[in-house]
Formats: sequence, C-alpha cells, structure tokens
Amino acid sequence: MAELCTTVSPASLQGKRILLGVTGGIAAYKSAELTRRLKDEGAEVRVVMTKGAREFVTPLTFQAVSGNPVGTDLLDPAAEAAMGHIELARWADLVLIAPASADVIAKMAAGLADDLLTTLVLATAAPMLVAPAMNQQMYAHPATQANLATLKTRGVLLLGPASGNQACGEVGPGRLLEPLELVAMVSAYFVPKSLLGKKIVITAGPTREPIDPVRYLSNHSSGKMGYALAEAAVAAGAETVLVSGQVSLPVPPGVRRLSVESAAEMHAAVLAEIGNSAIFIGCAAVADYRLASVAAQKIKKTSDELELKLIKNPDILADVSARPDRPFCVGFAAETEQVLTHAESKLQRKKLDMICANDVSQSGLGFGCDDNAVTVLMRTDAGAGVRQQALPAQNKRLLARALISLIASEYLSRHG
Ligand code: C5P
Repeated sequence: MAELCTTVSPASLQGKRILLGVTGGIAAYKSAELTRRLKDEGAEVRVVMTKGAREFVTPLTFQAVSGNPVGTDLLDPAAEAAMGHIELARWADLVLIAPASADVIAKMAAGLADDLLTTLVLATAAPMLVAPAMNQQMYAHPATQANLATLKTRGVLLLGPASGNQACGEVGPGRLLEPLELVAMVSAYFVPKSLLGKKIVITAGPTREPIDPVRYLSNHSSGKMGYALAEAAVAAGAETVLVSGQVSLPVPPGVRRLSVESAAEMHAAVLAEIGNSAIFIGCAAVADYRLASVAAQKIKKTSDELELKLIKNPDILADVSARPDRPFCVGFAAETEQVLTHAESKLQRKKLDMICANDVSQSGLGFGCDDNAVTVLMRTDAGAGVRQQALPAQNKRLLARALISLIASEYLSRHG
C-alpha cells in the first residue's frame, strides 16, 4: 500500500465500537499503537487477546491504552459477570483482527471456536476486517491462501498484508499494515448515511451477447467493483438496485439485484428503474456490439471461415444522462493508454457529472482483481471545467466506500 486514502475518508470514528482481536505474532506490538490511534479518532476499543498474543505483549498494555478490561479467556466467570462473550459480540460495530496469524485465519475458515476470540468471531454479526501478518512462506502456502479465499467469500474484508522486510529476516508479503493505514481503512469502512431516502441504480459485470443458443460474446469483467459500490451505497443508506450481468458474486445484503444477460436486457432493466432515482452509476462493461441476428440453432462447423455481423448496442449511460429527469450520472472509463484524456472525452460526450478513470494496463489492478485505483474527474459547478481527485490503489470494497462518499457529497452539493 503506497499511499493512504485520507482524502475522502470520513476520518472520524466518533462513538464507533471496535472490537480488536490480537493474535500471536511479533506484529502484536503494533496493535497497542493501533488501539491508541483508533481511540484518537473517537472510537471505543475493547481488546481480546489469544494465548499466543499474550506471549508477545501483556494484557496490561492493552488495558492501559484502551482504557477497558482485556478479554483473554472464554471461561472466565469474572468476565461473564461483566461483559460476557455474547454481549461483547453484540456490542461491536466492527471487529478488527490485527495481526491475524495463519492459525487464527485457519480456525476462522474452519469455524472453530476454542477460545474467546474465535468464539466471538462466530457469535458476532458485525462486519469483520482481518489484517494478516505472518512469515511470507506461511502466507503463500496454499492452505493459508485457501483459508483467506474462504473468508473472502463470507464477506470478510482483508487488509493487506504489506510486502517487505520481515522480522524473521525474509522479504515478501506478510507484514502487518502500519497502524495509521489500518485506522484509515477502518474509518473508510464507516460511510456516513448521507444517501438515506435516495435511490441509486448501479450496473455491474459483463454483458453476454448471444451468437446462437450455446455461444456468446463477452468480456473479462468480474463485477467486483460494481458489487462493492452497491455494498457501499447500502452502507450510505441508499435504496440500491444493482443491474448485473452474469457474475459469480453473492448479492450484498440490502441490495435488490436484477440479473440480466445482454446489453439490451441491461438497457431495458435500467430504464425501468431510473425514473425515481437520484444517482446512476454505470460500472458494467457493456459490450459495444451485438450480433445483427442470433442463430436459432447451434452454428455448425461446416466451413473454414465464419463471418459474424455485429451492430452497435445502445449506450445505457448516455441514454440515462440524456433524459430530462436525469439522475446524477457517474461513468467508468477503463483504459490502457492516455487514461485521463479518454476519460475526459467520455465525460463530455456522455454529458456525465463524474467519471472514474482506471488504468487497466497496470498488473494487480482493475479487471478481475481485488484492488483498484481510480482518478475521478468531476464537472465543476459552473459546468464547463473539470476537477480531478486521485484515489490510490486499495481494496475495491474500501475504494467503493471512498467513491460513494465522494459521489454523495458532489450530489448533495448540487441537489441539497
Ligand atoms: O464508451 P465506453 O464503453 O468506454 O464507456 C464506458 C462507460 O459507459 C461505463 O461507465 C459503462 O458502464 C458505460 N456504457 C454503457 N453502455 C454502453 C457502453 C458503455 O452504459 N453500451
């Protein structure tokens, strides 16, 4: 993580209740600083330590910095009499496990509950953020990677790890992110409910343009960015409709998903929903062309060459933005060169309020990846000029929250 996303994160954690799980690893010493920084932002922090963590740092340290008793044992009559494990699980607005060892990650993936922390993980409904820290070989091990993938499918948000020199003398991914980076990510997670009562329509994923009953033309869009935006829009309080091409992602809680295949179906679904919407985000990778005619039967391999005639698809975003009752319109421009120039010409051509430009030629970012970086181009209030804001590389789910905060503040500055 090169830079911090401090520009649009809501910054304050005032009144937020953070349950910090600390597990065994040399990075546990950084969690004392993390606790202090979370408190500086106004959060109330309660710390739960595993047995391994207590080999590195004492509970007294965390009690002193958090100002609260530290949870260590599941079967502790004194703790159960005060704040027992179920109350603690219900108390949390967010659970952050930092550092998360390979062991706790494996236990979470398996659903084990053999100590206070792993029991809380099962007992809480709060969002879960996990910051892995371990030797780079342990991180790279297929077992750890499979466990992390399992946690991701359950909605756990992974923070890092960073890459670099390790305490064991090796170099590679497995370092705990710095306390300030973790605080910025936790802050970004709590988007203000600025879109309460507003409807937002988001397109996501690829479209499939049928060739015959068994074949289609499509692209590599995974839908991750659009789904992350829908999750963030719900967090901001919006009534959220996600018009989605075919992807293998779970529907974020609170989102109404309309599943479509072709661009024509996506176009029709969006137009049916857009009438009473405040904001439209076109995040889908819509096929520019479709087959002029779809074969009724499977096309047979009867000749060496096959010509397919393609015709242009409707531009969903341009059509929405041309409506007299147009919502606030946001587009995406995935480009491989002259990223900002192409994005700005799309902003003007499609008469958008905002466009998110991303360079899909950078490895590890964009299509199919978990991370993305965008530069947002916004029309100024006067309409003629364009402002820019860069949101650095980060997990798409955090980037989406930063983007929704930015979209909400631009929308509200114009529409109140
Ligand atoms: O023109 P281009 O496809 O590069 O524009 C990208 C932006 O326009 C994206 O926001 C995409 O979702 C939207 N778009 C659309 N309908 C199309 C093509 C693109 O809504 N047919």
